Amino acid sequence: MTKRGKFGDRPGVPDDALDAPTRAGAPLPLVTHPMAAVRPPTEGGRALAHTLALPPESERGLALEPGRPTVSMQPPMTPAGLSTGRDPPPEIGLTQHHLPDDATPDPRLILHLDPDSERAAQFRVLRHHLLECGRPQVVVVTSAKAGEGKTTTAINLALALAECGRAKVLLAETHLRRPQLAGVFRFVPPWCFAEQLAAHRHQPLLPWGLVDIPQLWLHVAAVNPRSEQAQLLDAPAFAIAMERLRLGGYDHIVIDAPPVFGTAEVNLLQDAADGVLLVARGRVTTAREMRRAVDQITATKVLGTVLLES
Ligand SMILES: Nc1ncnc2c1ncn2[C@@H]1O[C@H](COP(=O)(O)OP(=O)(O)OP(=O)(O)O)[C@@H](O)[C@H]1O
Ligand SMILES: [Mg+2]
Repeated sequence: MTKRGKFGDRPGVPDDALDAPTRAGAPLPLVTHPMAAVRPPTEGGRALAHTLALPPESERGLALEPGRPTVSMQPPMTPAGLSTGRDPPPEIGLTQHHLPDDATPDPRLILHLDPDSERAAQFRVLRHHLLECGRPQVVVVTSAKAGEGKTTTAINLALALAECGRAKVLLAETHLRRPQLAGVFRFVPPWCFAEQLAAHRHQPLLPWGLVDIPQLWLHVAAVNPRSEQAQLLDAPAFAIAMERLRLGGYDHIVIDAPPVFGTAEVNLLQDAADGVLLVARGRVTTAREMRRAVDQITATKVLGTVLLES
């Protein structure tokens, strides 16, 4: 018997793809329902971290609908940095970059291109929920697999955080196999973040070189796509980097991370971060994939989920 999914027999749409309404004609129809409905951090004093409410098989596809509880939030976290508090702040060298007027901007820069749109507003809602969630300083943005909107979410979350009271925000990428940030912001990284991670592993007090984009109130640590640096993340190097950069005065460090599936990189990143945001894309990510991804991440590190409309 042929099984008929909730999307009928439409080709290319997995039966259990997370449903999200589409708006026909929009160039990049993307709406977040970021943690729109979350449960309070604790129930009877017990953290709900281990009861992440992805639905049973029979209800698949419903988990991330707006208005339904999706994930539990964690109580305020203690920073994962290893600093004793006596370390001097890192030296940070900044190269200023201005977004070029003559190039078509990358459509993923939603808060910059369309700041008054509903899509931009949804990222501000995401910011709001994140700030309510213990003001995590280092946040890893990931998803189950490739192309589900990790970079889009990381960029716009960072922009939303930066416009809020002019917070000091660093956007860094650790998806070494598919670095995107230099291309999105249209610069050649003067210092490759992957190479800096490797160098600071052995000399943590070396200065850092970052890109400052004054228009966006944002600092960026981008990987040079041409770098010959190893393509898998070095966990101790990342932990050292976060320990130092936490002391650099950043209110938030948003990490554009690799996907969960295929490697243990996100598990390594999460140890040095305050929390993980898991992105799902409507009609692309399946409920089963979300469950598997959540299972792979340490439950106490999951801050919430973000659904991008497809
Ligand atoms: N909600 C969406 N609807 C339609 N297209 C989208 C949506 N989100 C992202 N895209 C497009 O999908 C592509 C991948 O998006 P993005 O780079 O954010 O994903 P990613 O998860 O970071 O990918 P990767 O795994 O390669 O790092 C981009 O071309 C982007 O413009
Ligand atoms: Mg990406």
